[in-house]
Amino acid sequence: MSAFPTKFEPLAIHGGTPVRQKLLPYGRQNIDETDIHAVVEVLKSDWLTTGPKIGEFEEQFGAWVGARHAVSFSSGTAALHGAAFAAGLGPGDEAITTPMTFCATANCILYQGAEPVFADVSADTLNLDPEEVSRKILARASSRVKAIIAVDYAGHPAALDELGELAKTHGALLIEDACHALGAEYRGKRVGGIADMTVFSFHPVKHLTTGEGGMVATNDARLAETLRRFRNHGISSEARERQEAGQWFYEMVLLGFNYRLTDIACALGLSQLERLAPNLARRREIAALYTAAFRDWTGIRTPAVRDDVDPAWHLYPIRLNLGMLTTGREEIFRALRAENIGVNVHYIPVHQHAYYRERFRTGAESGERYPIAEDAYERLISLPMFHAMTAEDVRDVIHAVDKVLSHYALREHQAKGEHADLLESGPAR
Ligand SMILES: Cc1ncc(COP(=O)(O)O)c(C=O)c1O
Repeated sequence: MSAFPTKFEPLAIHGGTPVRQKLLPYGRQNIDETDIHAVVEVLKSDWLTTGPKIGEFEEQFGAWVGARHAVSFSSGTAALHGAAFAAGLGPGDEAITTPMTFCATANCILYQGAEPVFADVSADTLNLDPEEVSRKILARASSRVKAIIAVDYAGHPAALDELGELAKTHGALLIEDACHALGAEYRGKRVGGIADMTVFSFHPVKHLTTGEGGMVATNDARLAETLRRFRNHGISSEARERQEAGQWFYEMVLLGFNYRLTDIACALGLSQLERLAPNLARRREIAALYTAAFRDWTGIRTPAVRDDVDPAWHLYPIRLNLGMLTTGREEIFRALRAENIGVNVHYIPVHQHAYYRERFRTGAESGERYPIAEDAYERLISLPMFHAMTAEDVRDVIHAVDKVLSHYALREHQAKGEHADLLESGPAR
């Protein structure tokens, strides 16, 4: 793509022809015949749930991410709940987290009756800023902070070493919400064995899917045992162990839930795990194509990548440079949708959701501001990003972004020669 438009096309939102005839979603699963076969095999077996596929999936997944233990859950949200429980969060405790995330990250703190404390993010990655976390801890009775819950936003690992150090200093655990970041690397290591607990999601838009599903990876055997009990009603043994041992006796030792992942889902997970490396490589390729295409386009800020990470690219969120555009994010979003590009917005900062505003008075009127997260939210648009995207899909996205943003570019920026090729190729609007 050139620095600015080479063609002038009427936008679909104004009655022009859309770039695509059919909507390209922002994310979707990729299921092949081996996945289907793996699931059918389990459907024909003795165990639809609490069977052997669970341990097999957990073992292979743990080895893949580099963690000694992996405990499966029925969703990423259930896995976060398990991690919050295992971290010992309870009434009167606090956990520090980011506002720039899906609400489930903060909700798991509430499930445990504890209180979320938000800290602002770093401007480059939109990940939890360790300095802000430190400031928040020091401003409170630090003994109440039992966990720091960081998110690897869009698949870019958070500042795990710095956050881990802070957690340790203050007697808290670091929970990494890596629901976006399966396969991401931080300082040469895959995420999964770095934080005290690392949480993954297997929702269909993620790198690997089980329909719904999640996992907590940890190197701590004690945490793993608590997690296993928590996802199984708080019962101290598994049904299959009892059946195989010919025993009926079991004990409920803590208040848990039924958050088990089925064997059907685990068979799908195992099959998907086989293709995780090439899928990840494809996402990295797509991200590189986007970044190269938009590099010179100053109306857009492409996602930053720090030197010490290799992101997993769950999302490709661009930020609009609103000062260079004649309209805001809403219209640009609608214009891209009209071109049949399934853009999305990640995220409404959690403290701005009605529930949080009402319960914790975290809205604008509270005086508590998270200026970086709030400013980013006004500018963010996630472009389609999934491993099954074809070369043509990628070209369509780049074409549509070029077409739409060119239309809304401020004339004065064009006149300044910032996009000289525009002046050569057509009239400024
Ligand atoms: C950052 C983050 N955390 C947690 C979750 C919850 O995962 P799940 O949908 O598997 O419950 C999501 C889901 O998309 C997420 O994006």
